Amino acid sequence: MDTKHLIISQKEGVGRVQLHRPRVLNALNKELVAELADVLDKMDRDDEVRVALITGGPKCFAAGADIDEMAESSAVEMLLEDQFAQWDRIRRFSKPLIAAVSGPALGGGCELAMVCDMILASEKARFGQPEVNLGVMPGAGGTQRLSRAVGKARAMEMVLTGRSMTAREALNAGLINRVVPVELLEEEAMKLAREVASKPPVAVRLAKRSVLKSFDTTVEEGLDYEQKLFYFLFATEDQREGMKAFQEKRKPRFRGK
Ligand code: HXC
Repeated sequence: MDTKHLIISQKEGVGRVQLHRPRVLNALNKELVAELADVLDKMDRDDEVRVALITGGPKCFAAGADIDEMAESSAVEMLLEDQFAQWDRIRRFSKPLIAAVSGPALGGGCELAMVCDMILASEKARFGQPEVNLGVMPGAGGTQRLSRAVGKARAMEMVLTGRSMTAREALNAGLINRVVPVELLEEEAMKLAREVASKPPVAVRLAKRSVLKSFDTTVEEGLDYEQKLFYFLFATEDQREGMKAFQEKRKPRFRGK
C-alpha cells in the first residue's frame, strides 16, 4: 500500500502515514502532497480507518515545500497548476487527524502539522515559518492557522523573522498538545489515536466539524450549527448504545451507525 514518498500502514482503526523523503528532510514536493491527498481520501472512505496519523519519523517531520522544485516556478505556472487544490483535499479529511512531529516542521511542514487536529511533538521538534528568508511568505495556511493558534504577536514574530519555536515554546503558546521524549513519540501518538478511534465515529466526525466551524463563523452561527449536529446524533444507533450502556453500567459497543 506504500507510495513513492509515503509509508502507509493500518491497525486498530488507525491509518498511519509516514512522510518519506529522508535525503531532503521530507521536503514536500508536489508528488508527495498529491500522494498524501490521495491516501487520506482513501482512508476517509474506509470504515476500518477511524483516525489518521501523520508522522515524519524520529528525525524530521518536514522541512517545508521542496525549494528546488519551487525555485524556477512562475506565478502563472503556479496559478494554473493550483497545487493548493491538493492541500484543500487534505484539510477536508473528515476524520480526526493527528500529527506526530519530531525534528523540523518548517514552512509547509509546519502548515501540514497545523492542518492536523492535534499535534504531539518530541523534545526535538521545531516549528517555524521561514518563508520570508526565501523572499516569499507562507502559502498553505501559515498566516491564518498560526495566528489563530498562538495569537497575533507570536505569529507575526515567527512569520516576519522566520524564527522557529522549540517544542516547549510551541506547547506554551498553545500550538501543540504535548511534548514527549523522542523515543516515546510514536507510542504516545498511537495511544492517543487509538483512544479517539475507540469513540463513536459519527459523533467524533461531527464534533471535529463543529470545532473547526468555530474558527470561521460567529458565535451565534456556531452555536446554531452545533445544536443541529447535536440533534442529528440522536438519529444514530451509537447514541442509543452509548446512553443505554451508561444506564446498564457496562462498556458501550459502538458500531459507527
Ligand atoms: C528542498 C531541502 C529542503 C527543502 C532541506 N533540504 N530542506 N530541499 N526543499 N525545503 C535538503 C538540503 O538541501 C540538503 O540537501 C538536505 O535536505 C539536508 O538539509 P541540510 O540543510 O543540510 O540540513 P541541516 O543543516 O540539518 O538543516 C536543516 C534545516 C535546513 C534547518 C531544516 O535544511 C533548512 O533550513 N531547510 C529549508 C527550510 C525552509 O526554508 N522551509 C520553507 C520552504 S518554503 P543536500 O543535497 O544539500 O544534502 C515553504 C512554502 C510552503 O515551505 C508553501 C505551501 C506549499
